[in-house]
Amino acid sequence: MVNEEGWVLYDYKPAAGVIEAEVLAGLQKDPKQISPKYFYDERGSQLFDAITQLPEYYPTRTELALFERYLPEIKQRVAAPPFCVVEYGSGSSKKIRRVLDVLRPAAYVPVDISRQYLLDNARQLKSDYPELAMYPVCADIGEHFALPDEVHSMQKLGFFPGSSIGNFRPQEATRFLQRARRTLGSDAQMLIGVDAKKSVAVLEAAYNDAAGVTAEFNLNALLHLNTQLSADFKPQQFAHVARYNATRGCMQMFLRSRVAQRVKIGDATIDFAADELVHTEDSYKYQPQEFVHIAEQAGFAQTALWQDDDAWYSLFLLHT
Ligand SMILES: C[S@@+](CC[C@H](N)C(=O)[O-])C[C@H]1O[C@@H](n2cnc3c(N)ncnc32)[C@H](O)[C@@H]1O
Repeated sequence: MVNEEGWVLYDYKPAAGVIEAEVLAGLQKDPKQISPKYFYDERGSQLFDAITQLPEYYPTRTELALFERYLPEIKQRVAAPPFCVVEYGSGSSKKIRRVLDVLRPAAYVPVDISRQYLLDNARQLKSDYPELAMYPVCADIGEHFALPDEVHSMQKLGFFPGSSIGNFRPQEATRFLQRARRTLGSDAQMLIGVDAKKSVAVLEAAYNDAAGVTAEFNLNALLHLNTQLSADFKPQQFAHVARYNATRGCMQMFLRSRVAQRVKIGDATIDFAADELVHTEDSYKYQPQEFVHIAEQAGFAQTALWQDDDAWYSLFLLHT
C-alpha cells in the first residue's frame, strides 16, 4: 500500500480471520485471556499516550530522563552513521525524536500493530524530519516479520523503549530477542528500556491511576474486539483489576466480569461467570541481572547499563 506522500507502508497486520481464531482460543482457556496487543486500536494508542502523562505512571518520565541524561554517552557507543533504527512498538514515536536528534541515523523503521496510529505518527515525523528515510511496518512483533529491503545493507540499532519487553513472559522475551537478533542481522545493537522491581505500592498505583485512564485503556480491548470482530461486549459489565504478582514478579491486569453474561464474537458465544477474571496483561519487572540473563540466553551481550538514581528503571545497550 502506498500512502498519499508516496511512501510505502509495509503491512503485515494479521487478517481478521487469524485475529478471531486467536481471540477465541484465548477466551476458551482457563483462565480466560485476551492478548495485550488488543488494547491498541487508535483509541487505545491515544489512551496509552494519556497514561504516559499521569502522575502515577513513573516509567515514561523516568525513561525520558535517562535519554536526556545519557544519549550523548549512548551516541559514543552506537555504530557510526549511516545506520538504521528499528523501533519495536513505536506508538506515538515521541521517544524516538530525542534519539533521532542525537544519534542521527540515516533510516528509521517504526513497527507497530496499531496501523492508523502508526501512519498518522509516521506522517508527522516525516514532516518534522524530511531528510530521514522512513519505512513504517505494521506487524505483530510477537511474530517474525521481514525488514524493508531498503535497509538491508545498513547496520541496525533495535530500539524497544517503554518496558514493553515486560509484556512477554520471560521465555517469550528470550524468543522475542532471538527473533530480533535474526531480524536485525549481524553486528546489531539494541537499546531497550526495562522496568525494575520496586515497592508494590508504587507499582500498583501506576496501574490503578486516580483518573481511571488505565481502567479505560484495559476496557478498550473489549471495544476494539467489538469493532474488529463484530463482538457484543458491554464494557460497563466488566471492571478493571490490576495487582502485583510477587511470585512471578509482574504486574497483572484483568477484566472482572461484574455479572454472569454471554458474549457473541462473530458466530461463537463465550460465557463469563460473575466475578470471573479475564487476564489482559503481564508487565514483568526485572532487576538488571535478571534481564541480562534473558538477553544472554537470546545471544545478546550487555554493552552498557544506565539507571536512574532510585534504580527504578534500566536502559540497556546490548550487542550481538
Ligand atoms: C506500551 S506502548 C509503548 C509505546 C512507546 N514505544 C513508548 O515507549 O511509549 C506499546 C506500543 O506497542 C504496540 N504494540 C503492542 N503490542 C504489539 C504487538 N504485538 N506488535 C506490534 N506492536 C505492538 C502498541 O500499539 C503501542 O504503540
